[in-house]
Amino acid sequence: MRWIVASAWPYINAVPHLGTLIQVLSSDVYARYRRKKGDSVIFVSGSDEHGTPIEIEAIKRGVSPRELTDRMHSYVSDLFRRFGISYDNYTRTESQTHIRFVQDFYLKVYENGHIFEKETEQLYCPNDKMFLPDRFVVGTCPYCGYERAHGDQCDRCGRLLNPTDLINPRCAICGAEPVLKRTKHWFFDLPKFSEDLRRYIEENEQLPDNARSMSLSMIEDGLKPRSITRDNRWGIPAPFPGAEGKTIYVWMEAVLGYVSAVKEYFERMGRPEEFERFWRDPETKSIYFIGKDNIPFHTLIFPALLMSSEEGYVLPYNVASTEFLLYEGEKFSKRERRGIWLDEALALLPADYWRFYMVYIRPETKDANFSWDDMAAKVNDELNDTLGNLVHRVLSFIKSRYGGRVPSGKLDEESRQMLEEARKIASGIEEDLERVRLKDALKGLLEMARLGNRFFNSREPWRDIKENRARANSTVLASYNLLRAMACYMHIFMPFSAEKLWRMMGLPGEPSPLPEAFDLITGTELGDVEPLFHKVDKEELKKRLREIRERGEVLSARE
Ligand code: MF3
Ligand code: ZN
Repeated sequence: MRWIVASAWPYINAVPHLGTLIQVLSSDVYARYRRKKGDSVIFVSGSDEHGTPIEIEAIKRGVSPRELTDRMHSYVSDLFRRFGISYDNYTRTESQTHIRFVQDFYLKVYENGHIFEKETEQLYCPNDKMFLPDRFVVGTCPYCGYERAHGDQCDRCGRLLNPTDLINPRCAICGAEPVLKRTKHWFFDLPKFSEDLRRYIEENEQLPDNARSMSLSMIEDGLKPRSITRDNRWGIPAPFPGAEGKTIYVWMEAVLGYVSAVKEYFERMGRPEEFERFWRDPETKSIYFIGKDNIPFHTLIFPALLMSSEEGYVLPYNVASTEFLLYEGEKFSKRERRGIWLDEALALLPADYWRFYMVYIRPETKDANFSWDDMAAKVNDELNDTLGNLVHRVLSFIKSRYGGRVPSGKLDEESRQMLEEARKIASGIEEDLERVRLKDALKGLLEMARLGNRFFNSREPWRDIKENRARANSTVLASYNLLRAMACYMHIFMPFSAEKLWRMMGLPGEPSPLPEAFDLITGTELGDVEPLFHKVDKEELKKRLREIRERGEVLSARE
């Protein structure tokens, strides 16, 4: 099976916070799962470099947008690598492949007759002497009354907007009241695709409820043509005849990055023909991990664009949209320094602790909350005491009582049953992963550890070791093989720890593919054994975070 796994491309105006990590991490867990099942996977994302958030930030810092994005792209790529995110291609929207792909794509759509041009009146700031598209303008949402809605979307109700839809608009740079000024723009004829989109959404049963209901109600309300061009200089030049000096609206090009990133990947690998095979094979499945504010771009605009190209690209198979993450009950806020940013997180704890806790609280059906109390409790009781302890007990027992060599011999009935039970939990984990219930899948791993602890306790191998050696051997052999299977599943969620466990267990290479997770192994010589995890103290962590900020130890703390 061929899979394209993707996560939303983060705007690269600042270091992302833990909320963004949710999507990135979810996509990584999913990509790792598919690879471990033996599927052929291309896992992509990139930095979203264009658009008004970047321009506004660059203006604030007095640098050019490109200077800002160069620096942030390399910083953030490195953070993702340190979090163990296994992208095959983490690229950027300034990549030449992307720019050329987007321009060719839109010329095709233009030739296909799905783009028209129109003179319109747009908001213009008399102070800053520029048009105010998208996030350059704030005002009241005509749908829900939210007073800080932006020109492209309302952050409260998620509706797509045009700047002129806003009630009482203001310039986001200087606060002045904009005036209307005539300009010409190119529009994508989205309403033409309403019926096809409705059918597409209704037929895609695996779409999460939030994505499905939001999309259907937007179609119900009536879709509007979406403008493709902007009067900004920062962006991809619009390729249409007569559109000199205009650029393409950031969302209308960034979503095409999912296609161009795969193209770029195969070009770099020297197998360009495989790009077509991935993106045009109707059997290929693609899945996008996003936050709920990105839903309409992925369920309506992106599929409609793919349809309009008439190139036979596969439509998104699933859009795995999550709800929001709160920090101690409130929204993350850079201005108020409320939240944790990714470079700070890594300065506090190894990546796997975050990977564990972020998946543990993944906002799958409702908003979730990061709290230090809960984080410390879950790390200490579950990750350390349940999982870490089992590993330590079994491996140090083999070290001290078996001279570090796993016994061979036969499994007795009870040991076989324990492994059978573990196998059932493991197939539950796979079923959860298939349905993108990542939280439940992770809990399955803890369930396996609990099973192992119960087994090891009740069998009391330290008693058997003298009088009933065969029974002790069976206990140890089964426990060791349970750990081996657990390492294979753990590799999906916590790759660094799983690889460390694998080495401690004396096994070569990386944790095995899932179909081999339960193959029985005997006689291995253990490597060096040390604790896999440690407990955390939330007061100490919070103190350390304050220190990181005071000393400006990482980039986000200095911004
Ligand atoms: N940059 C957008 C955001 O952070 C997401 C873009 S996703 C893509 O909200 F589809 F454009 F890639
Ligand atoms: Zn609204």
